[in-house]
Amino acid sequence: MTAITIRPATLDDREALCTLYHEFHEFHVRGVPDRLLSLGRPPETYEDSDLYEALGRIIEAEDSTILVGESAGQIVGLAEVYVRHDEPNPLRASYLHGDLQSLAVKEGFRRHGVGTELLSAAQEWAKARGATEMRADTWEFEEGPLGFYEKCGYRTVRRNLIRGL
Ligand SMILES: CC(C)(COP(=O)(O)OP(=O)(O)OC[C@H]1O[C@@H](n2cnc3c(N)ncnc32)[C@H](O)[C@@H]1OP(=O)(O)O)[C@@H](O)C(=O)NCCC(=O)NCCS
Repeated sequence: MTAITIRPATLDDREALCTLYHEFHEFHVRGVPDRLLSLGRPPETYEDSDLYEALGRIIEAEDSTILVGESAGQIVGLAEVYVRHDEPNPLRASYLHGDLQSLAVKEGFRRHGVGTELLSAAQEWAKARGATEMRADTWEFEEGPLGFYEKCGYRTVRRNLIRGL
């Protein structure tokens, strides 16, 4: 695969990012179809969409960023990350932490180290802003990313349990 460059997204990346977020969502719909709803076919353009607007805010804010992985001029991966402080709570330890909201590598570019590079860059970005740990929520299913995160040193600290009634 052509070499990967990791860089912060710019406003001009929004159309390509929207396409990747769409793919990312549909991947999870296939994994947990009883939880997530399909967006259907992607639109011709995202320019008037809420997502397009939201990406502009995330890219420009001080406490968030989107890092992209680029190969031969094509965006092949993204990491959306925030730095957040836990609300003060007398019963819980409070951390300044990185919050990884989304991590996605385009189908066809997976298992070539792009996810690892994006995750490392997101961790560095959060650490540079004082974060002492990184957090990520994931859906658990056969093709899901849990094994990837574990290989990257992550562990589960809390589980969301359900039982049909
Ligand atoms: C999860 C994801 C980001 C990983 O990116 P990637 O570029 O494929 O990962 P890498 O190539 O850097 O893999 C690093 C290691 O994790 C392993 N790995 C990758 N995906 C894995 C998975 N889903 N399950 C178990 N192990 C996985 C790789 O084999 C590699 O192991 P190795 O070092 O022993 O060779 C990517 O597969 C993806 O976008 N998946 C769909 C969306 C998703 O699940 N995102 C995370 C949601 S929070």
